[in-house]
Amino acid sequence: MLALRADLLDFTAAPTWGHARSEAVRWRPDHWLLVGDDGRIAGVQPPSWQPGPGHAVRDERGRLLMPGFIDTHVHSPQLDVIGSYGSQLLDWLESYTFPAEVAHADPEVAAAGAERFADALLAHGTTTAVAFPTVHKVSAESLFAAAERRGMAIVTGKVLMDRHAPDGLRDDVTRAERDCVDLIARWHGRGRSRYAVTVRFAPTSTPEQLAMAGALVRADPSLYVQTHVAENRDEVRWVAELFPEARSYLDVYSRAGLLHRRSVYAHGIWLDDGDRARMAEAGAQVAHSPSSNLFLGSGLFDWRQALHAGVPVTLASDVGGGTSLSMLRTMADAYKVQAIAGQRLTAWCALHAATRGAAQALELDAEIGTLEPGRQADLCLWDWHRGIVDERRLAVASDLHERVFAWLTLADDRHLAAAFVAGREAYTRRSNER
Ligand code: GUN
Ligand code: ZN
Repeated sequence: MLALRADLLDFTAAPTWGHARSEAVRWRPDHWLLVGDDGRIAGVQPPSWQPGPGHAVRDERGRLLMPGFIDTHVHSPQLDVIGSYGSQLLDWLESYTFPAEVAHADPEVAAAGAERFADALLAHGTTTAVAFPTVHKVSAESLFAAAERRGMAIVTGKVLMDRHAPDGLRDDVTRAERDCVDLIARWHGRGRSRYAVTVRFAPTSTPEQLAMAGALVRADPSLYVQTHVAENRDEVRWVAELFPEARSYLDVYSRAGLLHRRSVYAHGIWLDDGDRARMAEAGAQVAHSPSSNLFLGSGLFDWRQALHAGVPVTLASDVGGGTSLSMLRTMADAYKVQAIAGQRLTAWCALHAATRGAAQALELDAEIGTLEPGRQADLCLWDWHRGIVDERRLAVASDLHERVFAWLTLADDRHLAAAFVAGREAYTRRSNER
């Protein structure tokens, strides 16, 4: 049994919007977290507790221990295009992203990319991701395998795209269906892997392909769905031209049977009231991707409006549209996007969305998202500060919210000391001095 001593932070409920004081926050400074040999959290003990001879002791006093972050929308092959200069979504896809993704037809490129991506997630404090690989079956296969080798929970699936994409990046309905059926049979529910029916976005799938995707989900609603919706105004206009019969962009997916409790819709900036009501009714979530939305000039997502409509909102890096895999950077960007709308995103709402909130929205809360006994010990050990500025800022913070908010605003992957996956240390920072 592992006994880890640190400042423990997690949530027992959803924090109320705008409340810096929250009953939902479970703050246990300088406590012991016990992890069983089965990789699950066994319990928590106060500082006065003494470890016994059967305990492997890790005294990390003065560090913060939280559940690993959950990134609900990220593209594994796009580490190669992160930080690409000067364009909005449709041009960015054509100029940078599609050309980079073509290379993943090669099994060696796909495998090396998946390994690098899984390591990079862990090095940023993300222990679970809902991820897009490429259209190539081997890229999905590689990503499942890379996650499994590290013991990580992953939600992914081969990208479906059979039109409006260059040669080497299109499938067809028959082959795509065959590949999906095979991947689902081999990976969905194997260990910590789950399959997501992955429609890139409506413009790159024919109505026949959308119908095929919908049929897969109808046949097995335990499958996830991931796609993009209403990200960019030119994209929204294009979808209206391609699908004149649909009431809205979201309605294209809804009609195809791609809107259910396990559906993850990235962006959703340009949804209307009807769309939000439909998403709430279906229990589908918006994966809010503020870094990407700013970088690609897509727009400002109204979190509060989604919340009012009853739509679950989770947080996502959307790398490579987003410019960092760090969920802390993502939260800091989310704060700024809400600030422009005159809203205040508390540290609690942000951290909850990237842990317990995402776990609930994905129906994975029995497995991840909190420090509750029985959950998998997917944990991150963070330094509160790494430099002169953050050290000083935290020293003068007068209450817990001020301290945690300043931390998440100033911290990034350099603050991550170690990441544990199912109780096993899967990432250790190279220079580990405090
Ligand atoms: N819409 C369709 N494909 C993509 C993608 O790769 N990234 C983003 N941000 N939006 C998309
Ligand atoms: Zn995306």
